[in-house]
Amino acid sequence: LEGHGQEDKFILVTGGLGYIGSHTTLELLKQGYNVIVVDNLSNCFASARWRIQHLANQHFQSLAEQACPVAKLPKLHFHKMDYQSSSMRLLLEQYSIRDGASFDEQQDEAEKETKQSQISGVIHFAAYKSVSESITDPLAYYDNNVCGLVGFIRLLDEFNIHNVIFSSSATIYGSKANASKPLLEDQVLHFPSSSSSSQNEAAEMGAEGLTCAYARTKYFCEAILADLAISAPQKWRITCLRYFNPVGCDPSGLLGESPRNTPTNLFPVVAEVLTGKRAKLSVFGTDWPTADGTAIRDYVHVVDIARGHVAALSTTPAISISTVGEKGDLERAFRTYNLGSGTGTSVLEIVESLSQAAERPVPVEWTGRRAGDVGFCVASTARAERELGWFPKESIAQSARDLWNYIRGHGQHGNKEKKDMSAVK
Ligand code: WQD
Repeated sequence: LEGHGQEDKFILVTGGLGYIGSHTTLELLKQGYNVIVVDNLSNCFASARWRIQHLANQHFQSLAEQACPVAKLPKLHFHKMDYQSSSMRLLLEQYSIRDGASFDEQQDEAEKETKQSQISGVIHFAAYKSVSESITDPLAYYDNNVCGLVGFIRLLDEFNIHNVIFSSSATIYGSKANASKPLLEDQVLHFPSSSSSSQNEAAEMGAEGLTCAYARTKYFCEAILADLAISAPQKWRITCLRYFNPVGCDPSGLLGESPRNTPTNLFPVVAEVLTGKRAKLSVFGTDWPTADGTAIRDYVHVVDIARGHVAALSTTPAISISTVGEKGDLERAFRTYNLGSGTGTSVLEIVESLSQAAERPVPVEWTGRRAGDVGFCVASTARAERELGWFPKESIAQSARDLWNYIRGHGQHGNKEKKDMSAVK
């Protein structure tokens, strides 16, 4: 296992037991990172923690059998708490490296400036993510996703933790997504855009066409983080990863999408049809300007998304010589990347893939378009491939097989916690 010099450091992952969070936590452990997971379990189950540990142990066991044992097994620490809780301060103090004086004796500003942490990076997943819920309860979304972020980042700054990966979303492309061609990061809020003549031009690519409060919370968070990075570019290393449509799950069948809330996304909804929890799939619109009339999205395996986070952590921004000085500092301080497959797939094609994986039909009904939907939303992955060396590897068929494997093992949404626990103890 290649040492990355982080063996004694930790990555703090908020929302680390959720769908993308749990797969990313597992990938971090497999790549040798120690992980501190903070999760309030509002939309996931505690049993994911043991399944992650079990899979990581299996991975290291197989490395040992291949005569490449890992010198120091990475650690996973789990704290059940809300990322906005006052306990977060206590947690950061626990991982703060004291330089002689005890933490609370470090009253002097200069001393605080030198305070270091065992936490070398933060991945911030914790947020509400239901499009429909954000329309009916916007304040809950602005409070948790935006106000919470401001307080959290302020606290990280106090503990001199400035390497932050933010969980963003393709929804911030809004109506730009209908361009029927792959979306480029610079089309929305890319500070500073090396291709734009000035930051102001990039800043003008505003939030028009965003279809719900959820999308706006992600846009506002990126804008807040961009302004912060511009205010102190030598200090901050902020990376926004814009997920397109994460699907599938770990091939073990032990980790999957197991939300507490009723799913509205296509893959888990079709999963409920396959398990009989729903009678049929409503296909939202068959009159889109696409080959089969159904909308096209960029479905990307969640393990590829997890790998994208590790790639973002382990690469210092490659900055071209032409942008040394202030611009170079800015480009190191704030980066945005699309995490998608770069390929468009229609609703009917997805239905066919899942039907093949489960070897059973998926009954459908044709209905009108869903409010806020766009007909086409696909990523350009060029920047992530060029700067992070990240390439999506898994296929739609693999995503469908992995999801079906998870469903068969766990039933819908992993709500058989006791069964899971016995499976990994
Ligand atoms: C995909 C396609 C639907 C359900 C979501 C959210 C957000 C974001 C990305 C994180 C669309 C169609 C769906 C159904 C259907 N994630 N569909 N019947 O809308 O692209 O975006 O994922 O930020 O969660 O914005 O994903 O899975 O809801 O829909 O026909 O019952 O499937 O119309 O074309 P979407 P989705």
